[in-house]
Amino acid sequence: MSNQQSMDKSDILLDISGLTKSYTANKTALSDVGFTLHRGELVSVIGPSGAGKSTLLRCINRMIEPTSGSIVFNGTEITGLKRSKLRAVRRKISMIFQHYNLVHRLTTIENVLHGRLGYKSTLAGMLGRYDEGEKMKALNILAQLEILEYAYVRTDQLSGGQKQRVGIARALVQDPLLMLCDEPIASLDPKSSRIIMGYLRAIVDIYGISCLVNLHQVDIAKEYSDRIIALGAGKMVFDGSPDALTAATIEKVYGMSAQDKAITPQILQEPINA
Ligand SMILES: Nc1ncnc2c1ncn2[C@@H]1O[C@H](COP(=O)(O)OP(=O)(O)O)[C@@H](O)[C@H]1O
Ligand SMILES: [Mg+2]
Repeated sequence: MSNQQSMDKSDILLDISGLTKSYTANKTALSDVGFTLHRGELVSVIGPSGAGKSTLLRCINRMIEPTSGSIVFNGTEITGLKRSKLRAVRRKISMIFQHYNLVHRLTTIENVLHGRLGYKSTLAGMLGRYDEGEKMKALNILAQLEILEYAYVRTDQLSGGQKQRVGIARALVQDPLLMLCDEPIASLDPKSSRIIMGYLRAIVDIYGISCLVNLHQVDIAKEYSDRIIALGAGKMVFDGSPDALTAATIEKVYGMSAQDKAITPQILQEPINA
């Protein structure tokens, strides 16, 4: 967001402070992390493998319980929430994964409709009962993501970039306020990566949904984000505008030069599949 000074408190969707997570007694994956995310803001979290990026997202959607600290989402403290209240919060937070997490023997539309499961009773969900409105919504989203023609195709027939668009569609049909994206482009070639980042950017700009995106690629983070947060060994090293992220900070975070980091080793290793 270009003009953060003009935002008031009601623009804050997520307010994290003192967030600490230790998986074991002698190892801290996240240490005293704190930041805010505004409505309609796309923030990237960068940092090397093991920095704590996934742990951060898992704490926010409460897949794991933080050791200490506060996470206020849409005005509600969500640490310690149980059952129905947790379920209500999770409905408004959707996830996008590196490996898409699709059910490959099902069609695109069936996968997308899984995004509605949080709104259903277990039985209705198991029976795959979705109403016409939900189906129309899913088809509309597929059209916007330009994969409508694959609606009734099994997702194992799709390229990596198309699979990730199905992942985005499933996240959108959920009507989220926040999308958490854990390395959404780490398995994609450079061209598909840009297409996916372009869609995330457009979703934030058009729908005002907030997006927190874990990324390896500093260059991509700089290009598509309103703000960047850098994690190094579980600690926040930087929180600011892409322009303010200096080569020195990047070097500190990665322990190597920014130039080396401009090309992601993962991209060189992964087969091009989009
Ligand atoms: N379930 C777990 N149990 C124990 N340690 C874990 C677990 N998940 C992650 N870790 C450790 O926490 C640290 C942060 O991991 P992670 O959040 O996955 O980092 P990133 O996503 O930035 O690669 C690493 O040292 C990792 O080994
Ligand atoms: Mg990770």
